Amino acid sequence: MPSCRGGKAGGGGRRRGRSPAGLRWLWLLLCLARRPLPGQAGAPSELRVRVRLPDGQVTEESLQADSGSDCVSLELRKGDGTLVTLVADFRQEVKIFRALILGELERGQSQFQALCFVTRLHRNEIIPSESMAKLRQKNPRTVRQAEEVRALEHLSMDVAVNFSKGAQLSSHIHNVCSEAKEAIYTREEDVKFWLEKGVDGSMFEVLPQSADLPDLQRCRLCADRWKPCICSYALSIEWYPCMLKYCKSRDAAGKVSSYKCGIRSCQKGYSFDYYVPQKQLCLWDEET
Ligand SMILES: *[C@@H]1O[C@H](CO)[C@@H](O)[C@H](O)[C@H]1NC(C)=O
Repeated sequence: MPSCRGGKAGGGGRRRGRSPAGLRWLWLLLCLARRPLPGQAGAPSELRVRVRLPDGQVTEESLQADSGSDCVSLELRKGDGTLVTLVADFRQEVKIFRALILGELERGQSQFQALCFVTRLHRNEIIPSESMAKLRQKNPRTVRQAEEVRALEHLSMDVAVNFSKGAQLSSHIHNVCSEAKEAIYTREEDVKFWLEKGVDGSMFEVLPQSADLPDLQRCRLCADRWKPCICSYALSIEWYPCMLKYCKSRDAAGKVSSYKCGIRSCQKGYSFDYYVPQKQLCLWDEET
């Protein structure tokens, strides 16, 4: 599975919880977490949690964090076999969604289709990698459901990203999107943000829009398999730590201070619209 390890391996010198606050938070993080697993400083940490899907099925979700390269990755398999991966690259302010969609062999589709959607990572969308690396759970058999359901986000992916140049945006694109070389999408508004940060613009190519092609339709309304259209793909991150919880403590002198003592979990869906040169690249998007 694609972990968070980008090109650069995590730096050698690991910070340790030297301050009392740091130590305490190591111990108290989460009703998920009591004690850090021994050893493994520098290795990305992995947490496996069981989560309930909307159809009632239970799946295992893997959460990895690498505070050295300041990144987090989540992966889960949906009931239909689709593998959904999210990599959050905090350093580059980039998040990458990847879907590996199983093809339907009887319809002459190859084994799977890979899609990559790259968009801006905002602050506070997900807890920091350092905190994620410290998450532990008491009971791995517990089936989790997110405490908060966040609104479905519609994203219009109007720009293609050149795979061979994508590493300049995030080193993780190379690992995560290698099966989706021809299907890496982003948005003009995200591109603007990255260009202001000094990212090289030559990796981006604006895709045809409805304004350029007046008869560009949604694929689900298009009858001709060979015509270009706007495809829609939706995915959901079923369970992720979206916020830190703080608790208060009072010292001997009565002074109140707050410390990190757990996480809040969220579920969030995303719906991506993007251009395909032929409707047959978008066969799941059919009117039923
Ligand atoms: C992506 O960039 C490479 C290197 O500059 C170039 O050779 C290739 O043609 C580009 N691919 C597309 C699809 O534009």
